Amino acid sequence: MALDASIVSSDPFSPPSDSALWRRDFLLGAATASYQIEGAVNEDGRLLSIWDTFSATPGNVLAGDTGEVACDHYHRWESDLDLLSTLNVDAYRLSIAWPRVMDEAGRPNQKGIDFYKRLIGRLKEKGLKTFVTLYHWDLPQYLEDRGGWLNRDTAYRFADYADLMSRELSGQVDAWATLNEPWCSAYLGYGNGHHAPGLANDRYATQAMHHLLLAHGTAVPVLRANDPASLKGIVANVGRGTPDSNSEADVRAAHLFEVQHNAWILDPLLKKAYPKDLFELWPGTEPLVLDGDMETIGAPLDFLGINYYFRTNVKSDGAHGFTEVPLPGVERTQMGWEIHPDGLRDLLIGFNKTYASLPPIYITENGMASDDKVVDGRVDDSQRISFLKRHLAAVDSAIKAGVDIRGYFIWSLLDNFEWAFGYERRFGVFHVDYKTQKRTMKRSAELVAKFLEERNTKATAPA
Ligand code: FCB
Repeated sequence: MALDASIVSSDPFSPPSDSALWRRDFLLGAATASYQIEGAVNEDGRLLSIWDTFSATPGNVLAGDTGEVACDHYHRWESDLDLLSTLNVDAYRLSIAWPRVMDEAGRPNQKGIDFYKRLIGRLKEKGLKTFVTLYHWDLPQYLEDRGGWLNRDTAYRFADYADLMSRELSGQVDAWATLNEPWCSAYLGYGNGHHAPGLANDRYATQAMHHLLLAHGTAVPVLRANDPASLKGIVANVGRGTPDSNSEADVRAAHLFEVQHNAWILDPLLKKAYPKDLFELWPGTEPLVLDGDMETIGAPLDFLGINYYFRTNVKSDGAHGFTEVPLPGVERTQMGWEIHPDGLRDLLIGFNKTYASLPPIYITENGMASDDKVVDGRVDDSQRISFLKRHLAAVDSAIKAGVDIRGYFIWSLLDNFEWAFGYERRFGVFHVDYKTQKRTMKRSAELVAKFLEERNTKATAPA
């Protein structure tokens, strides 16, 4: 099923009249994460996170960048929230920095908590829906010093943290996500070492994943008890793997790619079991699972957040796994990621078939990096405009195919600290000049704002 060419070529953000994007109850939002924007790493009692430690180690992050200042959002949060109003979005997805709000003895740090109370209070005043992620990778370093996600106890410390924040913010949050992208925390953090804490062992990755999912499942009932009216869910990044040829081996390789990227997380959450094929890929790496863990992990969800960026073309590695074969001549972003909106649609439709208990979906991240420059006060990010438009069309076509998708968040509101790639890669719809901290609205943001203004007028106009 190809995307409707008229959707792709018509005016930016003027979707066809039957598109779900026109519906007032389909949320359009923007997303950020604490370590990527806040800065102020030593202020008001914030403790070190694994990303402070990791980025301070030479060689880990491009150009030696760190999140020390980032977008200085900790000081500029009020004017940054005004950017959301300029964008006319319905919702904002942010994350809380665990090391700002709790110390090693589990005691609350009121100054840190108050920062998020003010922020979320202001979002409510503005009438924006708040999607709060508890863990977007900035684990307190004191927990990493005790083994981090390799230590089962971290899951219980996470539940304490979820308890604290959901008591403090009860009634203020529309949707809680426990974790952002456990695949990245487990695999990039403990499996190949590209992310903090920088360990590289497949067995570590599967055990870290188990403890991350256990943390999630332990926290969900706590969130339900403290803040009954909000939605509870988790955010997973998903990967589309396509076979380089139709040979049996390559088709199997693409299947294993998706097992490793998707089923590793979604099967335990939605089927209460790890996929067996995962251990064909990584023999002998089964995590230690205690009685009752899979029941805990499979706690019912109110929503599933899906983050999607690109597809990966793979072939068999001749043994148990896959290797990537980059396709020539395809359109790519500043990250080198292939732009492939059909992958998002196909995954969504596939999940809807595979998982009988699939909850409603929010696309909690989608977007792209480009080498954006301010010229005469403007930023022309035409590739992003086309990217967003094509992915929104893919979401709409998944909705038409019967998938229950309730919203879409652009990654990201601002250019920010892109993890191991530092500040070079610009994902924002607002440009950030890191020398002056000046924000400049990119052309994509202007068009999103214009479309939402039109949608809001139409939605409120008499029939
Ligand atoms: C996702 C992360 C997010 C951002 C985007 C580009 O994996 O959740 O923080 O870095 O990638």
